[in-house]
Amino acid sequence: MSSHGPKIPMTARKGGALTGDANVPGDKSISHRSLILGALSVGETRVTGLLEGQDVLDTGRAMQAFGAEVIGHGGGSWSVHGVGVGGFAEPQQVIDCGNSGTGVRLIMGAMATSPITATFTGDASLNGRPMGRVTEPLALFGAQSYGRQGGRLPMTIVGAADPIPVRYTVPMPSAQVKSAVLLAGLNAPGQTVVIEAEATRDHTERMLRGFGAELSIEETGDGRVITLTGQPELTPQEITVPRDPSSAAFPVCAGLIVEGSDVLVPGIGLNPTRAGLFITLQEMGADLTFENERIEGGEPVADLRARFSDNMQGIEVPPERAASMIDEYPILSVVAACSSGKTVMRGVKELRVKESDRIDAMARGLEACGVTIEEDEDTFIVHGLGAGQVPGGATCASHLDHRIAMSFLCLGMAAQKPVSVDDGGPIATSFPIFEDLMGGLGATLTRDAE
Ligand code: S3P
Repeated sequence: MSSHGPKIPMTARKGGALTGDANVPGDKSISHRSLILGALSVGETRVTGLLEGQDVLDTGRAMQAFGAEVIGHGGGSWSVHGVGVGGFAEPQQVIDCGNSGTGVRLIMGAMATSPITATFTGDASLNGRPMGRVTEPLALFGAQSYGRQGGRLPMTIVGAADPIPVRYTVPMPSAQVKSAVLLAGLNAPGQTVVIEAEATRDHTERMLRGFGAELSIEETGDGRVITLTGQPELTPQEITVPRDPSSAAFPVCAGLIVEGSDVLVPGIGLNPTRAGLFITLQEMGADLTFENERIEGGEPVADLRARFSDNMQGIEVPPERAASMIDEYPILSVVAACSSGKTVMRGVKELRVKESDRIDAMARGLEACGVTIEEDEDTFIVHGLGAGQVPGGATCASHLDHRIAMSFLCLGMAAQKPVSVDDGGPIATSFPIFEDLMGGLGATLTRDAE
């Protein structure tokens, strides 16, 4: 499956219970950062459990274009021979980041303080997403950008030859923007300070420290103040990538809504900046347990067990939890449809600038499946019908968005009539084994002739 290839229409229908172990792939956020920070170290970084999804492979190719050597050894094992902070070479070709906002934004940050020029592009989804949120802070370092109207890709970044460190308050909750600024700060002299009002995923901070950068974090009345000392020599690392909680969300939620299910999802990364969905599900009354909690590779990890829960209730999801579950709202809205009462999701406008406008995509598809929704710019409300009560029987548009496609396919496993998606191709960006894994649990998932 590829987000660049022909459309792959798919259908999920109600079958038996989902049972067994679901070994989901490596964390996408950590995989991107492993390749980028490996490329910014001098020597060999070895990575196991890397997500071999299209998004991460595109980042690997980009790192090669900037001069690093990136070698796959099979089975998620990779090595990166890095060129060091400030060592990026000028790419000879346009950098195609495919579908990946994380890839392009982090790489722009990583190259913006080197005296090189690079041009970035992506697929129709990525080329429609705002890049001004990254190029504005990068301009403070001295980088210039030339893109399409509205700060859209394709875009050329001219890196700063003489970068200056910055102090920047990130205006929206975005780990991508925070990370782009920190990666740019690596090659600026002195201290770069990034302030975020709401804590977003902190993998960049954890990993920068792991690679030997000097980085301090202070919790203040204004939020988290992150101070990075520039121009460190990063030391290559051995990285074990934990399994992705955002991918685990699909078999976990499918297990909760498909009658009779009992699914175990082992070794899931439970970094508190990523775990909001699981807390929310427990508040809704999900039969979800954390087993064998442990620390692996510096990240908290547990085995998640999800059993069919026929009495989940809608809740108000606290807006301050949004950053810790931002990618999980599409699948949460499916669980909400299979619960009783109203689930209210506020403070979620960032969903409108993801791989698709995720509020709009889920709202239209859920309506087509017989679910009542309400929305405004920053709010999404789902009126739940209860377990086994969603009619289904629609084809939903996935809008080049992997999480939209997977969410509707999970709904199809529990709805009264089958649910189809017009294109399951984008699933390969983050969860290339989704079909096999869900099929292995007992799901009835088919590819349809176009
Ligand atoms: C990511 C940050 C989030 C998230 C994306 C991965 C990251 O995006 O939606 O899937 O790895 O930093 P934003 O920074 O736009 O919130």
